[in-house]
Amino acid sequence: MSTVKPGTFYCVIIFVLILLKMQISDESEFRVDRSKADLTHVPQDLPVRTTTLDISQNNIAELQTSDLQPLPKLRALIISHNRIQYLDIRVFQFNTELEYLDLSHNKLRMVSCHPTVNFKHLDLSFNPFDALPICNEFGNMSQLKFLGLSAVQLQKSSVRPIACLNISKVLLVLGETYGGKEDPESLQDFHTESLHIIFPTKKEFYFTLDVSVSMAVSLELSNIKCVADNNQCFYFLRVLSKLQKNPSLSNLTLNNIETTWGSFIQILQSVWHTTIKYFSISNVKLQGQLDNREFYYSGTSLKALSVHHVVSEVFSFPQSNIYRIFANMNIQNLTVSDTHMIHMLCPPQTSPFLHLDFSNNLLTDMVFVDCEHLIKLETLSLQTNQLKELAYVMNMTNKMKSLQQLDISQNSLRYDEDVTACSWTKTLLILNMSSNILTDSVFRCLPPKVKVLDLHNNRITNIPKDVTHLEALQELNIAFNSLTDLPGCGSFSSLSVLIINHNSVFHPSADFFQSCHKIRSIDAGNNPFQCTCELREFVRNLGQVSSEVLEGWPDSYVCDYPERLKGTPLKDFHMSPLSCNTALLIVTIGASMLVLTASVTFLCLYLDLPWYLRMLCQWTQTRLRTRNVPIEDLQGTLQFHAFISYSGHDSAWVKSELLPNLEREGTRICLHERNFVPGKSIVENIINCIEKSYKSIFVLSPNFVQSEWCHYELYFAHHNLFHEGSNNLILILLEPIPHYSIPSSYHKLKTLMTQRTYLEWPKENSKHGLFWANLRAAINVKLMEQGKEMNYT
Ligand SMILES: *[C@@H]1O[C@H](CO)[C@@H](O)[C@H](O)[C@H]1NC(C)=O
Ligand SMILES: *[C@@H]1O[C@H](CO)[C@@H](O)[C@H](O)[C@H]1NC(C)=O
Repeated sequence: MSTVKPGTFYCVIIFVLILLKMQISDESEFRVDRSKADLTHVPQDLPVRTTTLDISQNNIAELQTSDLQPLPKLRALIISHNRIQYLDIRVFQFNTELEYLDLSHNKLRMVSCHPTVNFKHLDLSFNPFDALPICNEFGNMSQLKFLGLSAVQLQKSSVRPIACLNISKVLLVLGETYGGKEDPESLQDFHTESLHIIFPTKKEFYFTLDVSVSMAVSLELSNIKCVADNNQCFYFLRVLSKLQKNPSLSNLTLNNIETTWGSFIQILQSVWHTTIKYFSISNVKLQGQLDNREFYYSGTSLKALSVHHVVSEVFSFPQSNIYRIFANMNIQNLTVSDTHMIHMLCPPQTSPFLHLDFSNNLLTDMVFVDCEHLIKLETLSLQTNQLKELAYVMNMTNKMKSLQQLDISQNSLRYDEDVTACSWTKTLLILNMSSNILTDSVFRCLPPKVKVLDLHNNRITNIPKDVTHLEALQELNIAFNSLTDLPGCGSFSSLSVLIINHNSVFHPSADFFQSCHKIRSIDAGNNPFQCTCELREFVRNLGQVSSEVLEGWPDSYVCDYPERLKGTPLKDFHMSPLSCNTALLIVTIGASMLVLTASVTFLCLYLDLPWYLRMLCQWTQTRLRTRNVPIEDLQGTLQFHAFISYSGHDSAWVKSELLPNLEREGTRICLHERNFVPGKSIVENIINCIEKSYKSIFVLSPNFVQSEWCHYELYFAHHNLFHEGSNNLILILLEPIPHYSIPSSYHKLKTLMTQRTYLEWPKENSKHGLFWANLRAAINVKLMEQGKEMNYT
């Protein structure tokens, strides 16, 4: 028996642990979503393994133990936006894993507690509780990270049960009937890092609650309304002034403020002298005007101020006071967005601004013209404003000696290159000019060190070849333009990310990847690719780059043309090498021709193919002809199948080959010497023979031509036999007759020879069979009865 090494043993244990963990994490995620399903009860058909159940936004009015008992694995339960009026926490006594319970936005007035639960997240906010729904048992929830509460009256004593807990975030919603007459110190026992108090929406802020006592690091106050004339936001400003008591407070967020311009600046002023570092105000509604007032900047801890979404009820008053207050701020980060601001002043002296965000306003080309005091500025966003001339923007940046990042996207910028010199600040690294109306000319002037250039959604049709070299450019986004080809990397030697989707690229150059060595991501999807031979090379190159490089592959790469391939994914587009390579095509055709010629030559030279073809052709012609001849017409006069004429020099062949082969099958032959009629001349005998025969066979050879042909020329000339009935002639070429040896007066013979209407006597024995068969077929015709036919002798 072999011993198990300790190493192996541990490995096995780790493996088992991994398996177990996989099983656990498998089970740890099983979410059931039955929200917005018009439920009036907790559904009964839920899987036992459910860990998260979302039944929010239904009409459930009641929770019962039996509803939840079947879900022992339940860890999170979301029942917000229902109609539950009463909660007995005992209903969760069997859900020992339950740690997340969201019961916000219900109709809860009462909670009965039970000691066994131990939530991490308990949200009871936005419920019509009178007093804070905190039971003594909450003190045991040592893991509590979030607690959402609501009440219309606060009592310091009701918070005491959880005074020992350290909760990360407390949300306190003060109901609409909240009066604010309680002990201002009510929040003292909340020990939380982050406190969010939501005041009643419709009430003027007359509250005296001391929000600083909780010692939170981060404080958020929502719904602050101080518009009453006599009030001047007195109560709220007093709340803010107390914040100084909490030296740990560093983040303040105000939401939904309705006040006057004057009070708004006072709010800013009072925060200026606290320990707050990050101050953010959003959704502000302002009344009245701003008079010329001083703002005291010194002694602040503030680093970042963000003012987002301001609506001013009066617009037509001089706003330079407001701009002056903002421009002079001695902080690093300033955001003023979505406020209808039309201008911003240049700070009167060197400003500490590092990051300015003025997006979503109405700023024009006149912003920061000739401004020399933003020399520390590193990032500037003028996104979504009213900028029109890029030349002005370049000029504006010219004096910003530290500017690295500029966002001028979503304006109406165009660039007329003839107007000015190229005056971008040299320090720019990230430039966002997307969603403007820029054209190709924008490439004539770009910041020389730019690394990231976003030009998507403009009107660029072509990147000029002579663009300034952007050796630092790493990311180029030119999506949603009208480019017809991929740019090479000649001018952008460091390019590593190219986004060029949604353009008009139809034949991307195949050499893109050769010129762009450093590319690690390219997105060229959603272009109208023309799936023709030119694209083949590109697709092949695409196939060689890894799929991480190719964004959107394969789904957004689709053929647009030709029509029959429209919609075909590029990955499925193939064309045979032959149809795309002309040289290859020519070579292939040439090669096939060569092979064909060679085989034909071989067949002709060595197997005498033409001879066989001629024989075959004559055979078929004969067959056709005999079928068309009305035999009955002939039969009356005919006694012989064929008459044979030959030269005496060839009589040996005729006697030994021709006659035996024809007569063997009962063919009747007329020979003028054999079937001689006494008292007639040779010519008359021959003519007699011809007339009684179906066919006339002439055995041609040089001898025949020399000696015999003349006999027939005469006769043929008279009877025009060649013209009307050359059908009846069969010429057998026994030996080749050289053309020159035919006397020039023998026109007919010459014609017949050139027309090749003769049967050639093959030298090879193997061909003789076919020769005889062909000849027999030519003369084969049914003649009269034997007896009758014998009469002539
Ligand atoms: C200022 O803004 C920049 C850019 O938005 C951000 O990275 C930085 O964290 C901000 N600094 C502070 C102090 O808020
Ligand atoms: C440029 O701004 C647009 C919004 O206008 C944004 O979607 C895009 O991500 C920005 N580009 C870069 C490179 O940050």
